[in-house]
Amino acid sequence: MTAPGAVAIDRARVAALLEREERRFEGEHPRSRELFERARGSLLGGVPMNWMVRWAGAHPVFVHEAHGARFVDVDGREYVDLCLGDTGAMAGHAPEATVAALSGQAARGITLMLPSEHAPWVGEDLQRRFGLPFWQFALTATDANRFSIRLARQVTGRPKVLVHNWCYHGSVDETFATLRPDGSVGPRVGSIGPPVDPGVTTRVVEFNDVDALEAALAHGDVACVLAEPALTNIGIVLPEPGYHDALRELTRRHGTLLIIDETHTICAGPGGYTRAHGLEPDILTIGKPIAGGVPASAYGVTGELAARIEAAIDRDLSDVGGIGGTLAGNALSLAAMRATLEHVLTDAAFERMIALGERFEAGVKGVIDAHRAPWHVTRLGCRAEYLFRPEVPRTGAEAEAAMDAELDGLIHLYALNRGILLTPFHNMALMSPATTADDVDHHTAVYADVVAELLG
Ligand SMILES: Cc1ncc(COP(=O)(O)O)c(C=O)c1O
Repeated sequence: MTAPGAVAIDRARVAALLEREERRFEGEHPRSRELFERARGSLLGGVPMNWMVRWAGAHPVFVHEAHGARFVDVDGREYVDLCLGDTGAMAGHAPEATVAALSGQAARGITLMLPSEHAPWVGEDLQRRFGLPFWQFALTATDANRFSIRLARQVTGRPKVLVHNWCYHGSVDETFATLRPDGSVGPRVGSIGPPVDPGVTTRVVEFNDVDALEAALAHGDVACVLAEPALTNIGIVLPEPGYHDALRELTRRHGTLLIIDETHTICAGPGGYTRAHGLEPDILTIGKPIAGGVPASAYGVTGELAARIEAAIDRDLSDVGGIGGTLAGNALSLAAMRATLEHVLTDAAFERMIALGERFEAGVKGVIDAHRAPWHVTRLGCRAEYLFRPEVPRTGAEAEAAMDAELDGLIHLYALNRGILLTPFHNMALMSPATTADDVDHHTAVYADVVAELLG
């Protein structure tokens, strides 16, 4: 869709630019190419993890080393990293305090199935940040969500989970569900080997749709709503005023637990969106950056829910109850969490990061406005996204309809060729404590160049 009076996109020009950028990429990454060819002999698709085929260019760049907000590839090229491991490295790469804690702890024991002395410190810091009194650990945000859903089902005795259309909460089976055009629930496109029809486990409503939420909860079979406070995995879709109040009021009224997933929305501040906006979840989950990129996640519950959990779970059987993981809460992850929370992702760091997010947003908006491009930029704290659509989307379906794989591909590759890494999915940029104003301005200049070449 093109806004009235806005410039239209010439698709032939997009294709020609993409071809030029592909050639440049090939010429500049011979060593990555070599490693990729070799990896094809031993790794599925030539990559250690399936998503890595989604990068711009004929193959991913292979990384030599990463520090702060930058990394260097095996061809010796340096990049400003605005992807930051899709939030896993939001604390910056190899933050000094985390690295020191890791090497100290590794030399004193990595995993024991016993608590280390850092455990209560981390629990207390999570209390302070998010307001929930009782915490448990897992290794990934996916697992924190899976375990929270199990707890919710156990204490409510209800079978279903409610999620927002086009949400992403990790590889949690129940969440791979989207709304079909007729309003029924079906598997998300691309869902691999769904264990059951997701309509059996899941109700789905659009973000910001209070009426649909109320109707779905009225069935009385929803154990929990699992929600990001703002959708961040289909571009950013912000909540409309009153949506969170309605979500909380309706879940309480219908006896449904509210799980808020702060894994990405921690970008809103040191206590995530929850603290910044006074949300009151029954359960809060978080993973990715809290241990500086070392596998670790956490989920916290209210005092009331903790009592219900105690009553509903047989502790003698809890090791085989479907919640846990041998390495969860290991000494190395706890040491990394403590160092990262105490010294890296501090309140002061968030202030600087959010100011850089504002600078990024203003830079991109300036370019969009100057060209009257039919696009916009959205920001949540230190995370920003641009989307190729004139109106700000209100729902996941609207955001999904605005995805433009061709333009994404061009912008990602154009930026990569000029020393900037964006996320491989949509157009997310994240600020770390090590990101600088120069890094942001470098992106703005490159963005201005690509837009001028596209629309100029
Ligand atoms: C909001 C949210 N929750 C959970 C996850 C899952 O994180 P992980 O892949 O580390 O388990 C993601 C991953 O992108 C996410 O965006």
